[in-house]
Amino acid sequence: MCSAGTMNELRTIHDTRACIDAARRAERRIGFVPTMGALHRGHVSLIDAAERDGAFVVVSIFVNPLQFGPGEDFARYPRDEQGDLGICRAARVDAVFLPSVEDMYPPGAVTVIHVAKLTDTLCGPFRPGHFDGVATVVAKLLNIVRPDAAYFGEKDAQQLAVIRQMVRDLDMPVDVIGCPIVREADGLALSSRNAYLSEDERRRATAISRALQAARTEIAAGERRADALERHMAAVVTAVRPTAVDYLSVVDAETLQPVEHVERAVLIAAAVRFGATRLIDNIRVDPREAGA
Ligand code: PAJ
Repeated sequence: MCSAGTMNELRTIHDTRACIDAARRAERRIGFVPTMGALHRGHVSLIDAAERDGAFVVVSIFVNPLQFGPGEDFARYPRDEQGDLGICRAARVDAVFLPSVEDMYPPGAVTVIHVAKLTDTLCGPFRPGHFDGVATVVAKLLNIVRPDAAYFGEKDAQQLAVIRQMVRDLDMPVDVIGCPIVREADGLALSSRNAYLSEDERRRATAISRALQAARTEIAAGERRADALERHMAAVVTAVRPTAVDYLSVVDAETLQPVEHVERAVLIAAAVRFGATRLIDNIRVDPREAGA
């Protein structure tokens, strides 16, 4: 069950269903913000959006092993449960769901959700299986929480597109709400993984958002050739000597497929590594809008 006026810490699927069912019976709209913890102002912006919609706000904190590849950072992903609970309390969250891996993936679980096409591009080829892990855990979380609305950041634009597609294809009764990217004053998109960066890497990482903005400026000035935009972005980013550039791409904002010419809304997306830290960022640009 849930208590009113305090933040409910829920550790099991059973308790979570009971708590949220009670809120739903009290005719509260349920707003849900799934996270992997190490909460920052980007996450809080999603919580605030759910609160503005007048919802009973549920946050999940679960570092989902299924969405990490073998060589990736699952083991060292930042975990700070007490800090996260403090941030949730300050943001007036109603309930936090902190499941265990055993509860989410009991022995014998074999069902995986694969969203095709949208996962062929951008991060897909660099992170095989990643979006299957995301889609599967988000489907499970939506089935446990059964929210009216779920809030996701545009920071992970491909993830947001994959979840919208899954919700549409599987007739899931939830509104998926995308929220704008929260950035540091110097443009770097907030990310739990920014904590991995050394001071020097942190400074160099600002080249990512500068490159995206440079592409936006070029489109506003009339450039329409994707390859010219990509070359220009590559020059801005390679100037700071990243460890690797996974991609700097201009893709269709809806299908996420590469475009040759910018005619409709595009997503300009980047994935760049500094040391072992992989950072992603993007902006959406519509050449038909004034001042694009
Ligand atoms: P996580 O990286 O913790 O992000 C949780 C949510 O916060 C995502 O919707 C993400 O897009 C959003 N977010 C992160 N940084 C942001 C920023 N700077 N501005 C706005 N929103 C931001 O994304 C995941 O966790 C997981 O894949 C998850 C969906 C929880 C499934 O495991």
